[in-house]
Amino acid sequence: MKELNAAPTGNAKLVAWVKEWATLCEPDALYWCDGSKAEYDRLSEEMVACGLAIRLNPAKRPNCLLFRSDPSDVARVENRTFIASVKQEDAGPTNNWIDPVELKKTMTELYRGCMHGRTMYVIPFSMGPVGSHIAKIGVEITDSAYVVLNMHIMTRVGTKVLAALGNGEFVPCMHSVGKPLAPGESDNGIWPCAPLDKKYIAQFPETREIWSYGSGYGGNALLGKKCLALRIASVQARDEGWMAEHMLILKLTNPQGEVKYVTGAFPSACGKTNLAMLIPTLKGWKVETVGDDISWMKFDDEGQLRAINPEAGFFGVAPGTSMKSNPNAMLSCAKDTIFTNVALTEDGDVWWEGIGYDAPGKLIDWKGNEWDAKTATEKAAHPNARFTARAYNCPCIADEWEDPKGVPISAFLFGGRRPSTLPLVYQSKNWEHGVFIGATVGSEVTAATLDVKVGTVRRDPFAMLPFCGYHMGDYFGHWLEIGRRGAAQGKLPKIFCVNWFRKSAEGKFMWPGFGDNSRVLAWIFARCSGKGEFKDTAIGIMPTEAAIDRTGIENEVSEADLAELLKVDVAGWKRELEMIKEHFAKFGDRLPAELKKQLADLEARLN
Ligand code: GTP
Ligand code: SPV
Ligand code: MN
Repeated sequence: MKELNAAPTGNAKLVAWVKEWATLCEPDALYWCDGSKAEYDRLSEEMVACGLAIRLNPAKRPNCLLFRSDPSDVARVENRTFIASVKQEDAGPTNNWIDPVELKKTMTELYRGCMHGRTMYVIPFSMGPVGSHIAKIGVEITDSAYVVLNMHIMTRVGTKVLAALGNGEFVPCMHSVGKPLAPGESDNGIWPCAPLDKKYIAQFPETREIWSYGSGYGGNALLGKKCLALRIASVQARDEGWMAEHMLILKLTNPQGEVKYVTGAFPSACGKTNLAMLIPTLKGWKVETVGDDISWMKFDDEGQLRAINPEAGFFGVAPGTSMKSNPNAMLSCAKDTIFTNVALTEDGDVWWEGIGYDAPGKLIDWKGNEWDAKTATEKAAHPNARFTARAYNCPCIADEWEDPKGVPISAFLFGGRRPSTLPLVYQSKNWEHGVFIGATVGSEVTAATLDVKVGTVRRDPFAMLPFCGYHMGDYFGHWLEIGRRGAAQGKLPKIFCVNWFRKSAEGKFMWPGFGDNSRVLAWIFARCSGKGEFKDTAIGIMPTEAAIDRTGIENEVSEADLAELLKVDVAGWKRELEMIKEHFAKFGDRLPAELKKQLADLEARLN
């Protein structure tokens, strides 16, 4: 093995850990990443030269690359994701579990010699601003330059992180695409990965380790994101009294210049990026972005929950993103961006379904085949095609997005894709009721997961179903515990449920969504100031119809439409109750009594 550079750290544990893996994986070369632009540029060129990446037309998309993954490796693989806790019961009914000793044995054999013909990269990274007391340091070993490039954008990488780490603790993150090369063999421009039954995305919660094998894509491979910042961090947060959540963070300014920060948990591909970057259609309001996917929150000395975005970029869904739906995301990916599984135009630009204009001529689709709108039978971009863009390039990034103290949170939103029953918005009656709302989030499944049928409604509590690193019943308990702690100082965020995805009998969205969601945010803002007209209903606190400003969308949303969107559909809720009972039954005696009571109370109120 050729050592391309010397270990730039005196952290003996880290150096020994890297050596141990290098011995097992037998890469051709070992390289410690420094996080520099020169490193990014060099690896980009290598990827282009070996045919795994295409450089986009610099006149159209400066400093942008396009990757096409293997058709078997296009999203997170939930069936191959494991919480390998020592005891199965601690992983709970919502996680896949394998005994950690057994899993390590299996995976060790897969890792043996798995980097033949490849370079082993060591990526020191910080989740959160380097040095923030809420931030955490991880080190990822990978044999994928695609992963290195993405980590450069999504996290803070390199020398400065090692300086902050010193001799301290890091979360060890091991990754391989699982495709060793025979002597003389090369990838030949084909995305390397292992077959589905050899893929493993493993978290070891007690030892705080991550082992990933066989996939090069997104949350399976960029281990700082879902594996560290949610699955491992949720366990640390439980033990240390803070919160690691699948939530966007936005800064909301009203026409009077008052500011509130709001977080929102929506399942994958249900609108976090869009809400975080929204351009209000309501006059005088402003939304700025702090984060679009993950929020880490801690109480400060005054009992105020403060949030940081542990990431440094956006791994956003491309299809449906346009200058109309999300101009800020479009501008964020105008340069310095990695595109994965979008279509390529003849002039070296990107295209996807819902980009806002017709395909400009013939395309090369995400599978690398010629694509013509006139004759196409399949989509040009994969529905889970993504852009990896720097937060720094986002026109609406909030000035304080990297404040190491975090921003004070006034409201939590929960929601999903619910074509029926769930109204446009309601507020919880109190914290415990809010936890009940989070615990019962349901959504139609999207293309962000590979192995669950798209379109069916499933329960996705707190949008954390695939991301909670321990027993979901205990996680509900942790939320209740946070409530008890915060209540003492009276500064707990208010909790709301929103649904932008109600459909009419004809199957059309009843609410315009996107920028018009500001109309709902305005009511939420008012409620957080103890204002806003409301009615108390069986399901929670709802806006009166007059409290949602329809100015400018009277034609799209009639008074009757709004009434329908703000109605308590008693029959629908009774069906919902039955589904919630089935959902809760899974948690057995680990379901907190408070949530059983919330369910009984809701049932009583509906009767
Ligand atoms: P992850 O990155 O997977 O966690 O997804 P996300 O929650 O950030 O979802 P994103 O904002 O990327 O939205 C995914 C899809 O939902 C896109 O196709 C959007 O166009 C669509 N979408 C987002 N907001 C709205 C909305 O208010 N109304 C409607 N109808 N669609 C929306
Ligand atoms: C999600 O699926 O919620 C994502 C994309 O944000 S991934 O990073 O692949 O998990
Ligand atoms: Mn996500």
